[in-house]
Amino acid sequence: MPEISLSAKSVPPSSIRKFMPFIDLARKSGKKVYPLHIGQPDLKSPQEYFDALRHYEWKEDLKEGFTESTVAYAKSGGLDAYRTALTEYYALYDIILKPDNIIITMGGSEALEMAFKIVADPGEKIVTPEPFFLAYFSRVQSESRKLLPITTSIDDNFQLKDFKPKLEDIIRKEKGVKAILINSPNNPTGAVYDLEQMKAVADCAKEHNLFVISDEVYREICFGCEPHISAMHFPGLEDNVIMVDSDSKRYNLCGARLGRIVSKNPKVMNAAMKLAQIRLSVSTTEQLGGMAVLGNKHYIQSVKEEYLKRRNVAREVISGGEGIKFSRPDGAFYMMVDLGNHLNGEKVDAEEFAWYMLQEFDKDGKTTSSAPAGEFYVNKKLGKSQVRLAFVINEDALRDACSVFLEGIYSFKEWKKAHPENGYIKACDALEILR
Ligand SMILES: Cc1ncc(COP(=O)(O)O)c(C=O)c1O
Repeated sequence: MPEISLSAKSVPPSSIRKFMPFIDLARKSGKKVYPLHIGQPDLKSPQEYFDALRHYEWKEDLKEGFTESTVAYAKSGGLDAYRTALTEYYALYDIILKPDNIIITMGGSEALEMAFKIVADPGEKIVTPEPFFLAYFSRVQSESRKLLPITTSIDDNFQLKDFKPKLEDIIRKEKGVKAILINSPNNPTGAVYDLEQMKAVADCAKEHNLFVISDEVYREICFGCEPHISAMHFPGLEDNVIMVDSDSKRYNLCGARLGRIVSKNPKVMNAAMKLAQIRLSVSTTEQLGGMAVLGNKHYIQSVKEEYLKRRNVAREVISGGEGIKFSRPDGAFYMMVDLGNHLNGEKVDAEEFAWYMLQEFDKDGKTTSSAPAGEFYVNKKLGKSQVRLAFVINEDALRDACSVFLEGIYSFKEWKKAHPENGYIKACDALEILR
């Protein structure tokens, strides 16, 4: 059999998706599984999106991307009308752009991939706060780039403390640092960086001539810390900033795969356009859907209000847990929870806990799945006892899911007294499931 490449082999399995076989088994056994492990929101997508898809057809005013009888390729950078409409959307957030500063991508994921390619060659490095969005690690490390972490702590609510000295320490020790990658509001912590923290990032980028890749896909989901501070807000930083954005979460359009890469640096946009041309274009019809939802001025506010209610419910229930720490999310829809120690003082293994919840535990036939956080860190040991919860079910269900989750933690610690071997590893081996 021919051998696959080393770079293909080096891609780690997603710590979120690798528990799917156990979720399937739990569901097959009749358990109700509250799915707090994955950031797939349950909220209804805007009606305007469905209407646009249902009624799309060749019309004089919409002929871009269509001929009378053919769905044609859109322009590689995106439909002109969509890019223009997006400049109006960004102006609402004091981000003043021209259509040429925006290239439509297949989700924020493609924008991230383009940004990493544009800023760093093989062997070069990108610095980011950890814990971070899972895909950063595999995407940066592919093609032999390196992700260097600045560790943030649950004790500081994952804020960027002492960012400048920590970054400068890295720059002193490491050659080839090209960019700072930030994400506010943050997945997986829910942290939102205020003006002071964002200014520290901006100042460092300017001083050390670094790019700032600013992932702002949760821009509007901020609770009490508005207005959101964008990296695009800093005068003098226009050549440094590459913003990554997406409609997946704010419009609940994860499956539409609509995102963009945004920059005022003409060299960056020229490079992004060449990368966009390689993959020809983003779906013409999806872009029409994306353009239609921009017209719904109330939708995002309702999404934000829903997540605020859910955040409050999760905080209320989880704060009743003994011996566990948790982040206090100011944005996005995630919370990090540290499961603490066993009676023997050893840290709880979050992967074993996540497996235990699915295979060994239930409360009245119900259980809660969570995402072990090891792979949200470069140094996986830092996340060993942490899990991420996503608020992707309604308030009542979330209240129950969080209390089932807490009961599961106590039950797991009891169970562990009589089961010193790692049950998750044993179960994976027995079922030939890749870890
Ligand atoms: C921080 C962050 N950036 C980017 C993405 C990618 O989003 P998309 O669905 O647009 O590819 C996600 C998705 O969860 C995310 O959480």
